[in-house]
Amino acid sequence: MDHSKATGSGVTGSGCPFAHGKSGDVGIMDLLRVATAKQHDEAENHPFQQAFFAGKLPRESYIRYLVELHHVYSGLEARIREAAGDVPELTEVVVDENLRESDLRDDLEFFGTEPGSVGPTPATETFLSQIEVMSRTKPIALLGLHYVLEGSNNGSKFISKNIRRAYDLEDRGVKTLDPYGSDQRQRWLEYKTRMGALTLSQTDSAAIVEAAQLMFTTMGLISADLMPEQLQDAIAC
Ligand code: HEM
Repeated sequence: MDHSKATGSGVTGSGCPFAHGKSGDVGIMDLLRVATAKQHDEAENHPFQQAFFAGKLPRESYIRYLVELHHVYSGLEARIREAAGDVPELTEVVVDENLRESDLRDDLEFFGTEPGSVGPTPATETFLSQIEVMSRTKPIALLGLHYVLEGSNNGSKFISKNIRRAYDLEDRGVKTLDPYGSDQRQRWLEYKTRMGALTLSQTDSAAIVEAAQLMFTTMGLISADLMPEQLQDAIAC
């Protein structure tokens, strides 16, 4: 999927995503999409994501992935809530419907698995330390992390169809992947509008973009941590 083409006003074509020109400032959502396009392509092509997409992950690997996502989302959502007192932009963009912790809890309960029943992988542990620092030093950057998770719902919605089929699920067990159902496109548009309405300094925008890149890198590392041994066989089938 090619996300590399910036749309809307302001992308100057100079090669620098932060370039300013007569056509005005580049919107943060365009910056984010363009700056992470290559990482998105890599994420889509990661063997874990490919197997996940095809519904070929063993059921227990899917459940294990949900446990890991619970560490990631609950950690990030807690940091966003804590920092929002000083940085109201965080909850201007990330509204209640964008919080996934309770969906993850529900999915895990459906599978009879406690959130936190397995500790975070090394990649997630590193991430949790990084967001602790980020929330103290540059809390607005938490938006870049959240953008990646929220944006991933666009792809997860498709993946959820295969997951439902693979593990014989209806709604429970798959809420995290398809939280908005048929409203997915509309909710994403609204999220993008809220983010795009922020007044951000160039430094803030750069920090948000850098955080989004970190989130993609982290998800890749987490996928590698969770790669089941039998995955290669599953892909080959
Ligand atoms: C097989 C795996 C994946 C597929 C098939 C997929 C597919 C998609 C699709 C169809 C879109 C919507 C594109 C559009 O409407 O313009 C999208 C957007 C997005 N996806 Fe994925 N995706 C996958 C994996 C991931 C992963 C692992 C992440 C991050 C952890 C991710 C993050 C995003 C983000 C941030 C966007 C929004 C891009 C923007 O700013 O418009 N995706 N994806």
